[in-house]
Amino acid sequence: MHVLGISCYFHDAAAALMRDGELVAAAEEERFTRKKHDFEFPSHAIDFCLQVAGIEGPDLDAVIFFEKPFVKFERLLMTSMQMFPRSYKVFREAMITWMGDKLWIKSLIQKRLRILPSRILFSEHHLSHAASAFFCSPFEEAAILTIDGVGEWTTASIGWGRGTEIKLLREVRFPHSLGLLYSAFTAFLGFEVNEGEYKVMGMAPFGKPRYIDKVYQLIHLADDGSFELDMNYFSFHCSTEKTFNRKFVELFGPPRDPKMHFFTPSTGYPSYFGLKPADYEEFGKLNEHYADVAASIQAVTETVVLRMANQAHHETGSKRLCMAGGVALNSVVNGKILHDAPFEEIYIQPAAGDGGGALGAALFGYHMALGQPRKFVMEHAYWGEEHGEEKIESFLRRSGIGYEQFDDEEQLVGRVVESLQAGRVVGWLQGRFEWGPRALGNRSILADPRRSDMKDIVNTKIKFREPYRPFAPSVLVERASEFFDLPDPSRHYPARFMLYVTDVNDNKRDCVPAVTHVDGTGRLQAVHRHVAPRFYKLIQRFGEATGVPVILNTSFNLKGEPIVNTPQEAYRTFRISEMDTLVLDRYIIEKGG
Ligand SMILES: [Fe+2]
Repeated sequence: MHVLGISCYFHDAAAALMRDGELVAAAEEERFTRKKHDFEFPSHAIDFCLQVAGIEGPDLDAVIFFEKPFVKFERLLMTSMQMFPRSYKVFREAMITWMGDKLWIKSLIQKRLRILPSRILFSEHHLSHAASAFFCSPFEEAAILTIDGVGEWTTASIGWGRGTEIKLLREVRFPHSLGLLYSAFTAFLGFEVNEGEYKVMGMAPFGKPRYIDKVYQLIHLADDGSFELDMNYFSFHCSTEKTFNRKFVELFGPPRDPKMHFFTPSTGYPSYFGLKPADYEEFGKLNEHYADVAASIQAVTETVVLRMANQAHHETGSKRLCMAGGVALNSVVNGKILHDAPFEEIYIQPAAGDGGGALGAALFGYHMALGQPRKFVMEHAYWGEEHGEEKIESFLRRSGIGYEQFDDEEQLVGRVVESLQAGRVVGWLQGRFEWGPRALGNRSILADPRRSDMKDIVNTKIKFREPYRPFAPSVLVERASEFFDLPDPSRHYPARFMLYVTDVNDNKRDCVPAVTHVDGTGRLQAVHRHVAPRFYKLIQRFGEATGVPVILNTSFNLKGEPIVNTPQEAYRTFRISEMDTLVLDRYIIEKGG
């Protein structure tokens, strides 16, 4: 039985295919079209999934769309009518785009996949999020928390899963939304909404949460974790461009200029920003103020999510928690939940945002609509496209690129360890690309985390990131608790997917400075031998050579581009950046000998 899940038209479009209850393939559309956060109908991702399964559209038993377009449209219409005439522009744009494609998704799926309309089903946005977490988890029973910007009407929900059933017990409805509150601050701090939320999270440790009281003027939080926003401060319900308004600015001051470089008196001025401006001290202080704002919204978000998690525990009595929705990608919040909420185990799958809705839709369809039993646990994130050795070799030969081939894996890994120890920055492409926004050792850029100058080296050569974007550590799971405050790391699925930020142990901070953030934390990936054998071996050999079984791991892409998929894209990135070494499966290409 083949079941396809689709998500699109909002944030990240994606497709996921189940066969007889096991996941066969899952991918976000951006990896194929090379448009970051591509939200159009995911034709390429669907074709890829069908190709992996060796089937065609008409062979599908069911196709499930991740949300209910008509209900969402109803929300847009009702909200814009309430806010008329201020919302005239939203209303006009909504009519144009929704009347064009979005409402007619059923006939589009029918046409593209050549299947009967009776095989096309619709889930609900937050039910898809809930299903993506619970049905991928190893838990027979768990509390479920979903929090995002907005789905149809729901912006957060508490649910309970048991066996093949999920019940949503309570919800928060639009316009009251923790995700949209966080996004308003993302925009205020000069970042792109739905893209820059990580930057707010990374900026927070540079500041102090001095404005918590002010944030609580915007959000009224009850003891049970439910909340309301004071809509006098926001515009997202009546504008397509603005998320916050004049009153918000009266409270927090002028928004941060998106073009302003981020540095504070404590970070100094990074050399890769170019020449130091004359008024550098003034800018540093101004950035400190914005970091205080970031710290304040991050602290309030942590409190809200923690209170909701406590409520989920209270209502379900469960010792296990599954989380999904864009807010579940806030790995600092997740680390706090692990630490402070009364759950023994937590599960989050790697594409916790809207891309993951495709997976949730497929799982909802298979278990809840078609009543089939569970047998799948998502143990790893490697569900994307793969490019075999033959394809890589023929590309290298055809393009006249000089390479070395290593038939012996030990030799291959040994050679990469030497490169890393020599301070070289290594592009590393292996197997199937990752599901979700994190590179977990199949499309990664790797470097030596022991050198304090390595952050600047990777930034200067490739990433050009501001200091608030820390680089992540990949560590052998067996050695993870030696370096990070994470007892019994093998039990924690979110740690496999870089979804926890924890403290780096005091005695190890100097040991891995390039992956320790300014507040002494790290967003670790605990690497398991059985899910990523070659990557595991690389870190193991690096550990044998240096005493530190940790590697700096950042996603294989240039700033503003999606993570690479093909060897061609990897080579292009290698060539136009200052990366030193490129490893494509068993082939190594060196720059500058
Ligand atoms: Fe969502």
